[in-house]
Amino acid sequence: MQLRVATDQPWDVKADVLVIPIVGDPAFEGPLDEIDRRAGGELRALVALKELTGKRYSTTLAAAGELPATRLVVVGAGEADKIDREVVVRVAAAAERRLAGRAVRSMAIWLAPLADAKIDGDAGVLAQLVVRGVVEGSYDPKSIYREEDDSAPPKLDELVLVLPGGDAAALKAGAERGLIIGEGANTARTLSNRAANDVSPQVLAEEARAIAERNDLWIDVIEPDRATKLGMGMFMAVGRGSDNPPRMIVMRSGKEGQRDSLDRHLAFVGKGVCFDSGGISIKPSDRMEEMKMDKTGACTVIAAMETVARLAPGTPLLGIAAAVENMPGPHSTRPGDIVTALNGKKVDITNTDAEGRLILGDGMTYAEQLGATHIVDIATLTGAVSRALGHLITGAFGQPQDFYDQVAAAGARAGERYWQLPLIDEYVPEMDSWYGDLQNAGSAEGSLVKSGLFLREFVTKPWVHLDIAGTAYYRKALPFAPRGATGSSHATLVELALAGRAS
Ligand code: BES
Ligand code: MN
Ligand code: ZN
Repeated sequence: MQLRVATDQPWDVKADVLVIPIVGDPAFEGPLDEIDRRAGGELRALVALKELTGKRYSTTLAAAGELPATRLVVVGAGEADKIDREVVVRVAAAAERRLAGRAVRSMAIWLAPLADAKIDGDAGVLAQLVVRGVVEGSYDPKSIYREEDDSAPPKLDELVLVLPGGDAAALKAGAERGLIIGEGANTARTLSNRAANDVSPQVLAEEARAIAERNDLWIDVIEPDRATKLGMGMFMAVGRGSDNPPRMIVMRSGKEGQRDSLDRHLAFVGKGVCFDSGGISIKPSDRMEEMKMDKTGACTVIAAMETVARLAPGTPLLGIAAAVENMPGPHSTRPGDIVTALNGKKVDITNTDAEGRLILGDGMTYAEQLGATHIVDIATLTGAVSRALGHLITGAFGQPQDFYDQVAAAGARAGERYWQLPLIDEYVPEMDSWYGDLQNAGSAEGSLVKSGLFLREFVTKPWVHLDIAGTAYYRKALPFAPRGATGSSHATLVELALAGRAS
């Protein structure tokens, strides 16, 4: 897709479709009045019909009259004071998705109505968010396994950003950044959407290797023998029940232990459970098919490594994707089995369905052994987080607070929502084991907090845990996204890594 910037008026721009964002209630003054006049009063007529309301993420296809664009898509952005970065991305995505199945090759987006949004950034940031939205909006999960999908959002040859009097260079630079970040989110989504009979831990490692080679990243794939020798007892315990052996995937840009400009050797650690049946503590069959998505954290880490490499090659960054399949079988870990973690702790596996924390624990210890000074883990860890927060906001834990705040700030720059959950020390004894140092599940009360407390046992450095179990995939399509993997938190990880780019 070619990106082009036009600093002319929207009525001077030629394209198959011109996208017109509406902020607040449609008001025909200034340039919108001029657009409507040239469209022969089409927009006013649609407002009178109540077909066009300006409601957030609602879209209306309209005739273009004498405008050089062939058609118009009007997209609602909602109340001005509630338009933030997330809304801008989703407005652009909704416009692109409105055109699903239509023969559209070029799209122009008029940015001016969004230029006053509270995005805390210049026109370059606005262009970045809009292009990212179009790219993420174009994502089509149905084309993973099918040659042709007539209902896919259009593959554009050209996207034109229209901002009269705008700074063309800043717009172009922002647009290119948005394209790369959007493509990275889509890479994460495809890996995550792919079925468990397609993406085993070994296949995920091969995909990571291909990405590493394309982007000049160092990669080390740890196979079961070596993982056992290293002492990754929790990681290996989860993988034992499956015929598809585990892989600890380790990727790096920059040099071993190298610090970035913020004096960090930042590491991302992702949960890569290619299928989570629950193991011997088997899950109910209801919606078990969704557990192919339990690898989303790992997919997000792998994709973020690529995005950072494309945007700022050489940025010091470690990425670990702990890939396993959690299955019942004659070799499976049983409830009550006691294993030794890589950090030496004896863990009583009381519930084999609380497997994510086991593989992440060893992954984080390994990250520290490789010199990580700051760790962010990302995982579809608990059903409890989606019950508590739903699918539009990610639950997060972290300490110390200033590192949590750094991650939250990266989330704000990325236009992604997080809600901090507490690490309550008094609950730790409720995870006491009869025989070991701790058990992996504990009682159901406060289980969300306990998931964070368990992970904390395996880090000694500043750490944040992102539980994306609610946000990783949608069960129903929304105006800005299809059902399936969302790519959530990819942009946050990228922003966090790039905060320390100059070294
Ligand atoms: N992968 C699941 C969590 C999950 C549930 C992700 C629903 C996405 C949608 C995780 O491994 C799990 O099974 N967690 C248990 C933990 C419990 C046994 C302590 C849970 O949430 O019930
Ligand atoms: Mn589980
Ligand atoms: Zn799981």
